[in-house]
Amino acid sequence: MRNSHIEVTPTSGAVGAMISGVDLARPLDAGAVDAIRAALNEHGVIFIREQKLSPEQHIAFAERFGPINVNRFFKAAPGYPEIAEVRKEPEQKTNIGGGWHTDHSYDQIPALGSVLLAREVPPRGGDTLFASMALAYDALSPGLKATLETLRAVHSSRHVFGTKSPSAADRAGRIVNPELATQDAVHPVVIRHPETGRKTLYVNAGFTTQIEGWTVDESKPFLDMLYAHAKRPEFQYRFQWHVGSMAFWDNRATWHYATNDYHGERRLMHRITIEGCALA
Ligand code: SIN
Repeated sequence: MRNSHIEVTPTSGAVGAMISGVDLARPLDAGAVDAIRAALNEHGVIFIREQKLSPEQHIAFAERFGPINVNRFFKAAPGYPEIAEVRKEPEQKTNIGGGWHTDHSYDQIPALGSVLLAREVPPRGGDTLFASMALAYDALSPGLKATLETLRAVHSSRHVFGTKSPSAADRAGRIVNPELATQDAVHPVVIRHPETGRKTLYVNAGFTTQIEGWTVDESKPFLDMLYAHAKRPEFQYRFQWHVGSMAFWDNRATWHYATNDYHGERRLMHRITIEGCALA
């Protein structure tokens, strides 16, 4: 297959687009990369099915969109530090990413996004949900939007990846280097997407700990109200994986949620994360 007839089909009224007519095992010209980048900017997450990629080809694809962020906390695929394993074994109860979140918001310069490739999937279950934080922002009242524009929020990696994480024992062997979980960052609650300029809600239940200048207790009900709003089904799309399916999401525009409904089965994904830029 040549990569000159790329088609982009939205997957829902909210978020996501399926890209067809592309074989990522073959070189992509600049026009194809631009088309994929434009689809990502417009839809927040793109999906490509039936890709037979070696780790080198997965890395080469991701590198077309920016430098790779080598993950501090996820075990790497053997021989490939650039590829983080998102793994759940049959005997494990917790999964990685099993709650609404956006990755790396605890970093001063959060990652652009990730390219997740399905290597082994359960016979059923293990879908990933995505939600548009641009739509979530758009649907707020003018009054609340004006208030949010004045606020910044604190994000941290400590409670998720540190030694005191509640699921640390069950995740042992998959989540590593708890002593490196020292990242705290402050970002605006509403950001302008660095490429589209569109406003998006930039707080998430995974990593946001409080509104800057407020206590944790004061922040919690306010953040919970925003989270309840942002996870409304009309902002979402649910993606079903097959071996060789790929999702490429933008952390600045979306949340995601890995469904944990396949106990007793293995699910193994390869994730490559791409560096981003400062947010404002
Ligand atoms: C993640 O949160 O990065 C993992 C998503 C998934 O496994 O579906």
